[in-house]
Amino acid sequence: MHNSTHFHSGSQAEKAPPFPAFSAISLKMAKRVSSMPILLLIAALMAASSYVSKAAADPKASFEDNFDIMWSEDHFTTSTDGQIWHLSLDNETGCGFQTKQKYRFGWFSMKLKLVGGDSAGVVTAYYMCTENGAGPERDEVDFEFLGNRTGQPYLIQTNIYKNGTGNREMRHELWFDPTEEFHTYSVLWNSHQIVFFVDKIAVRVFKNNGKENNFFPDSKPMYLFSSIWNADDWATRGGLEKTDWKKAPFVSSYKEFSVDACQWEDPFPACVSTTTKNWWDQYPAWHLSDSQKLDYAWVQRNLVIYDYCKDKERFPTLPEECSLSPWD
Ligand SMILES: *[C@@H]1O[C@H](CO)[C@@H](O)[C@H](O)[C@H]1NC(C)=O
Repeated sequence: MHNSTHFHSGSQAEKAPPFPAFSAISLKMAKRVSSMPILLLIAALMAASSYVSKAAADPKASFEDNFDIMWSEDHFTTSTDGQIWHLSLDNETGCGFQTKQKYRFGWFSMKLKLVGGDSAGVVTAYYMCTENGAGPERDEVDFEFLGNRTGQPYLIQTNIYKNGTGNREMRHELWFDPTEEFHTYSVLWNSHQIVFFVDKIAVRVFKNNGKENNFFPDSKPMYLFSSIWNADDWATRGGLEKTDWKKAPFVSSYKEFSVDACQWEDPFPACVSTTTKNWWDQYPAWHLSDSQKLDYAWVQRNLVIYDYCKDKERFPTLPEECSLSPWD
């Protein structure tokens, strides 16, 4: 039923991607947000003392402080206060931006409002990647939002790449219409797991088996990307639904980028070794909490449309990480 062209990630040079949680982590987040001015002060002090390993991005910082536009500057606009960023797709091109910094492990989050109306064939992406282009050795963590015909549900596709190989797709329905308002899409990344969150709900858990030849991207730092592009060769109902250019331009909006992560500084970044100094590396962040597990179980029962680990037709021998339990 699924062939590989349905799952072309389209990540490549033309692509761009997202995510917090309940319990211990959400308490920390709540604390972190309320103590943001203090954190910024601490960050400034740390910068002054030339010891910067942890980056807490100011969500109110200007776009230029955090990002560069990757291509098609003229398809990028901001709200008058500069806090909302709009990416536009027409039949000439899409558009994308990326962080100036690379990070290894941490918490990455963005609010997105997706193209509304008839958006079949349009993909909005929020992803992390070790490279600017589609290098053959790249690692990636992807959130992709697949547009649809008016009134039909958007799907989110998530994927993981390691050394240029992907094929780890999952697809979910959402429990809301992502074109109506902003929602938060986040990734928790440490040496034990990658967790994809939609608002505060963990929708996908990808575990590290800790072995030498694992399929877990953990050695290379990543940039964050956001982009919009045309993928009507595969995105909506496997390429059956074509983009209706009469409805162009298609616009997706982004705001409140937030990162609480280890910022990579060449040549000897502090994030080279995994420590348990930061909350995202600490024991509570190695597993889902009990309340996160309840939400996650609900998502698994109700919203999973596709899981590569269940696709025996495509993988007569399932990839090794499929035997890892998300509950551990
Ligand atoms: C679009 O809507 C159709 C009909 O509800 C559904 O089968 C499909 O999964 C939806 N999403 C995409 C990306 O095709």
